[in-house]
Amino acid sequence: MFKSHLQDFCNRAVGSAVEPHIDVIKNITNRVIDNINQGDLHRWMAAYGSLPDLTAGKIDYDKPAVKVQFDPELSESVNLELKDTLLQLHPWRKGPFQIGDTFVDAEWRSNLKWERLLKALPELTGRTVLDIGCGNGYYLMKMAKYNPRLLLGIEPGLLQNIQFWSIEKFAKTGGFVLPLKIQEMPLDMKCFDVVFSMGVLYHRKSPIEHIEHLKSLLSPQGTLVLETLIVDGDEQTCLVPPGRYAQMRNVWFLPSVSMLSGWLEKVGFKNVEIADVSITTTEEQRSTDWMRFHSLPQFLTADQQQTVEGHPPPKRVIISCS
Ligand SMILES: C[S@@+](CC[C@H](N)C(=O)[O-])C[C@H]1O[C@@H](n2cnc3c(N)ncnc32)[C@H](O)[C@@H]1O
Repeated sequence: MFKSHLQDFCNRAVGSAVEPHIDVIKNITNRVIDNINQGDLHRWMAAYGSLPDLTAGKIDYDKPAVKVQFDPELSESVNLELKDTLLQLHPWRKGPFQIGDTFVDAEWRSNLKWERLLKALPELTGRTVLDIGCGNGYYLMKMAKYNPRLLLGIEPGLLQNIQFWSIEKFAKTGGFVLPLKIQEMPLDMKCFDVVFSMGVLYHRKSPIEHIEHLKSLLSPQGTLVLETLIVDGDEQTCLVPPGRYAQMRNVWFLPSVSMLSGWLEKVGFKNVEIADVSITTTEEQRSTDWMRFHSLPQFLTADQQQTVEGHPPPKRVIISCS
């Protein structure tokens, strides 16, 4: 399945600004696919393979959920089969999705970030778009409304890749997800009109190198949309949590907005615009039937004024720059 999706992506990229890089991306992705070693993969692939064959649904872009409707409507038994199969792809971190009668109530109400993102959304129509760390592709599907020339997400999590293909089987947005990390992408592609990096920078040990890599993926006139965790403070303030942050192990740098703007400018971005700063609430991130593990309410103190480790609670910025 991964290889056939890769081939579909390569076919779609012909004639786009990504065309000169198709062979490199194909080789890199094939190498990653050939080395997949993930115990649950068979189970997830079996769930994907047992999804019912349905005629393409119609996607409704204006609902909080990525909503796929069928005409005629699905029977009760098909709806139940669909729900049962999608539940086998637990945990669903990003969403919501509605496929027929099945409401995939994911851990994150990603529609809230999408609404904030709309304040910074560059032109996507006819553009080549890359979403780094795209998870299960909730935002890719929202972006598909604008009819980009090429819509690519990269995401190392195999479950998220399979969740994407499971929804895409019915949504048919025309987007693609490849199982790559940003550090596996070639440097200096200089071909994407818009690059999104959301929720990834704080997972990188070298945030300035991450920003440099993002810049090298962009065409000269391209726009970066960056979303990451920040802390309050001046241009000298940055939290480097000594252990976990909100129970996450791999969190490295939480700069202030001024320090982050300085990093972007140092790497050569101009027009650095702060589109939004918001605290992440337990309305936005919580456990559900579709993500049954602990979530933000368990990662904060009872009064929600600190993380359980004693750090400031999660606050995020959305920045666009070019
Ligand atoms: C906090 S989630 C954010 C998901 C989505 N972008 C969002 O904003 O809701 C971070 C995602 O980045 C992925 N990720 C982690 N390290 C990465 C890397 N080096 N390159 C690309 N993606 C990465 C994770 O697997 C995860 O799906």
